[in-house]
Parts: sequence; structure tokens; C-alpha cells
Amino acid sequence: MKRSLSGIKPTGNLTLGNYIGALRNFKNYQDDYENFIFVADLHALTLPIDPTFLRSNTKDIVAFYLAAGLDKDKTTIFLQSDVSAHSELNSILINYLYMGELSRMTQFKDKSSKLNHEAIGVGLFAYPVLMCCDILLYNADVVPVGEDQKQHVELARDLVHRFNTRYNKEIFVMPEAISPKVGARIMSLSDPTRKMSKSDPRGDIFLKDEPNIIRKKIMSAVTDTDTDIYYDPEHKPGISNLLQIYSALSDIDIKEAEMRFKDMHQYGEFKKIVAETVLKEIVPFQERYKSFLNNETINDVLNTGKYRASKIANKTLTKVKKTVGLYVHE
Ligand code: AMP
Ligand code: TRP
Repeated sequence: MKRSLSGIKPTGNLTLGNYIGALRNFKNYQDDYENFIFVADLHALTLPIDPTFLRSNTKDIVAFYLAAGLDKDKTTIFLQSDVSAHSELNSILINYLYMGELSRMTQFKDKSSKLNHEAIGVGLFAYPVLMCCDILLYNADVVPVGEDQKQHVELARDLVHRFNTRYNKEIFVMPEAISPKVGARIMSLSDPTRKMSKSDPRGDIFLKDEPNIIRKKIMSAVTDTDTDIYYDPEHKPGISNLLQIYSALSDIDIKEAEMRFKDMHQYGEFKKIVAETVLKEIVPFQERYKSFLNNETINDVLNTGKYRASKIANKTLTKVKKTVGLYVHE
């Protein structure tokens, strides 16, 4: 059976972008794939983060996974920090990637540009190496992610090629990033030229926002001054973003969404429908999330996941150690 793997880092409050671009799609792989979904908690340390927030946000994400329809009997749900093989493989593979290629990573450039050059953490720079380890330890065939993570998966592909060629053996499986057709890059509602990230309470819809707040944010989404509703991200970024949200959550393509609104000519009416579409999906999701958010459920899921994930990850780690010439003994 083919394998699918993905993760989310517990750095900030999860957004509708995370939900549409990633979370919502994770359950699609649990019937036909061996599905691995984890919380990338070690990745959360690449920028300063409050320990209490990190801990509670990690539990939140596990509850979100369950609320999004992941079933612990079908999907291995685990914490990155619970499987030490991630860090061990990182110590090996960090020697197989180059400063040049890591400096070209868009996410690194974005994040580091906001910091004083002298204070850019080594972990922030080397972050994609750990992400490669996450993927390669499980020999994942597919990696469901939003648009912004595709470059990191490309790097993992380069590494697989490099490593397998160097040792002339199929040690790692070649992974492939897959993103949803619509919604791989949801934009901020207050500035639709910027990606919705976890940082702007006005433009980002958080998965824990109260329904009336979600409605308000959508109703005040920045748009152009025209009245026609069609998809044109360059000239109508705000309307195009709302169309994307609507299409993704209605499981239809953009063309069909455009058809539905072609005679409307009223942004207010359109926004109301988008808001209702979001709430129809998010309110029940929030209720399920609350029902899963207790220590017993979370710990039970994580204990099972840790056991299953470690078994597979340790096997790959041993294979890699032997391949590179480390002395593996019983
Ligand atoms: P992160 O929050 O960076 O850990 O991202 C977790 C997942 O959500 C990744 O697969 C991202 O590509 C995806 N994601 C994050 N922001 C967005 C967005 N604005 N639109 C679509 N997908 C997103
Ligand atoms: N880097 C991803 C993000 O910021 C999270 C992540 C870490 C991930 N390791 C992964 C996603 C492995 C997919 C596969 O969104």
C-alpha cells in the first residue's frame, strides 16, 4: 500500500488557510493509503515560542486532526518529538544538503528577512532538512500540503535522488507533493495579496474564532469597487480569494462557482453566502474539536501513534545508518 504523510506545526492559531489547504484533505488518504499525520512540534522551536502556548496548541492540533475526520485506527497520528528517529536522521542528512539550496528556500527568506541577520537561528535555516527527514523516514509516496510547502518537498526529492545515487541503492522512496485543486493558497481577508498566515487577527480566520467573528471578518473582507463576481486573482484578488474559499468548501471548481454568481452583482450578498458556507463547515468541526479535547483521548491517540510511527521510522533509520557506514550492532 502506498503511503501518505503530512504535518502541521503548532506555531500559531490554525487558520482557514491551514484547514482548506491541508487539514481538510488529510482524511482523503486514510482509506487507500497508509496514512501518517503528525504535529511538527520540533519545527515550532525554530522561532521563539511561549512553552505554555506550544503545549496547549499541540493538543489542539491533535483534536483538530480528529475533528477533521482522522480515525486513529486508520491513520497514525503522532508527535514529531515522540519519535527520536526524526532527530537522529536529521544529524545524518544535514550533511547531504547544501548551504546554497537552503538559502534559496522562500520560507527561510521570508522569515529571516524580518530578523536581525546576526540573530537568525541555525534551526530556522536548517528547518527543511528536518522536514526531509519527516518525509523520508516513512518512505512517503505522497505529501498533501498547501502551495507554500511544495518547495520543501522538491528539496526532499532532490535529496532522495542525491542519496540513492551516491549509494547506488533505492534507500529512500521519491515523494510527491499534492495540493488541492482549489484552495492551495488562501489569502488574507484584509490584504488579499498576502497569504493567510497565523499572524493577522483581522485578515486571518482562526479555526477557534466564534461564528459571529468569522461572519464579521468575511463581511468586511477587502474587495475591489466593481460589482462583478468572477475569478481574476491579479485584478480582483479579494473576490477571487472568496471564490476560492467558496469553491473549496463546496467541492466544486472555480468555473462552476463563477456560474453560480454570474448574475448576482452584489458583493454584500456574495459575502453572506461565503460566510454561511464557511460556518456550515466550521461550526460542526468546532463542536467535534471540543469533544475530542480532553487529556485521555489525546494521550491515547498519541501513545498508539508513537508506537506505530517509531517502529517504521527506526527501521528506516537503521537502514540509513548501515548505508552510510555507521557501525550498527545488536
Ligand atoms: P503550517 O501552518 O505552516 O504548519 O502549515 C500547515 C499546512 O497548511 C501546510 O500544508 C501549508 O501549506 C498549509 N497552509 C498554510 N497556510 C495556508 C494558506 N494560506 N492557504 C492554503 N494552505 C495553507
Ligand atoms: N513545514 C511544514 C509547514 O510549515 C510542516 C511540516 C513539517 C511538514 N514536516 C512536514 C509537512 C512533512 C509535510 C511533510 O507547513
